[in-house]
Amino acid sequence: MSQSRRSFASDNVAPAAPEVMAALARVNQGSVHSYGDDPETLRLTALARQSFGTDLTIFPVATGTAANALALAVLAPPFGAVYCHEAAHVNTDECGAPEFYTGGAKLLPLASPDGKLDARQLDAPIAHAREMGVHHVAPAAISISQATEWGTVYRPEELRTLTAAAHKYGLRVHMDGARFANAVAHLGCTPAEASWKCGVDVLTLGATKNGALAAEAVIFFKPELAQDFELRRKRAGHLFSKLRYMSAQLCACFEDELWLRHGRNANTLATRLAQGLTQRGIRLVQAVEANEVFALMPVKIIAALRAQGFEFYEWPAPRIDNQPIVRLVTAYDMVPADIDALLAAIAQV
Ligand SMILES: Cc1ncc(COP(=O)(O)O)c(C=O)c1O
Repeated sequence: MSQSRRSFASDNVAPAAPEVMAALARVNQGSVHSYGDDPETLRLTALARQSFGTDLTIFPVATGTAANALALAVLAPPFGAVYCHEAAHVNTDECGAPEFYTGGAKLLPLASPDGKLDARQLDAPIAHAREMGVHHVAPAAISISQATEWGTVYRPEELRTLTAAAHKYGLRVHMDGARFANAVAHLGCTPAEASWKCGVDVLTLGATKNGALAAEAVIFFKPELAQDFELRRKRAGHLFSKLRYMSAQLCACFEDELWLRHGRNANTLATRLAQGLTQRGIRLVQAVEANEVFALMPVKIIAALRAQGFEFYEWPAPRIDNQPIVRLVTAYDMVPADIDALLAAIAQV
């Protein structure tokens, strides 16, 4: 396997960014207070408030699963219902962590072809829940992914319509922002315009896929929701005593808009990849709006690429015209040559 082959399996196969490593080295001296009572964590709050232009509360944790599950635990009681897309990471890839940390709330998956929820999809399930009363889990929240698991991005007007419907039904709105930077970069709007200004109550902001070593953040835009989060994070074992290191990674991402520059680069390369695939006769199955490309790939090409050391996943969705769907993910640190190497290998086949 050639060392120069970049993996397209996920964006978390990328290394940590030099800026993040430098930030870790910078805070790695002297003694400071533990458990978040340190200057770097204070600085993180200031930087996040500046980036989002509002008076938010931010809590670092180490994984996206913890961030999502703990955020949902605030929004949904043990007897609550959380509506999400059927392909949502919380529904398919978190080993029941949302159910565990909420103490039993039920995820109710909804289907759509592009990974997005539509406001009208809430009407029937909510009406049903109301009709069933005490026999049904109580509608509590929606969880939406931005960008979605199908690589698409909600536009602000779509978000506003969806969150208005959720709020009308008394539901809180959680956004899984593992790829929020990619979404903002695609929309060309401010982080505020893609989150709290569109009615998002809690955002789990990913950094690990986008250049951090291991750091995600739970961001509350409503102070009353943040009240007992510290206790939940501690109980879940996600309050790091040396929190300065987590905070330093997130600070490095916010500084000089590194996170958005990273998101833009990954998106640009996904677009380059999508165009190259199309030119080579490979069909895309979703609009490429962030850093994920979903393509119908003949098995012969898949085998040839794998034999040359390229890594990517076949997506667990039904085949189309007997061809599997593959997911190709670009990362913040890739360069055009990484994309061109894959395209050249396809051209050879
Ligand atoms: C949409 C989404 N949310 C959250 C996560 C975070 O997962 P982890 O717990 O692996 O950090 C991922 C990672 O693949 C993801 O794709």
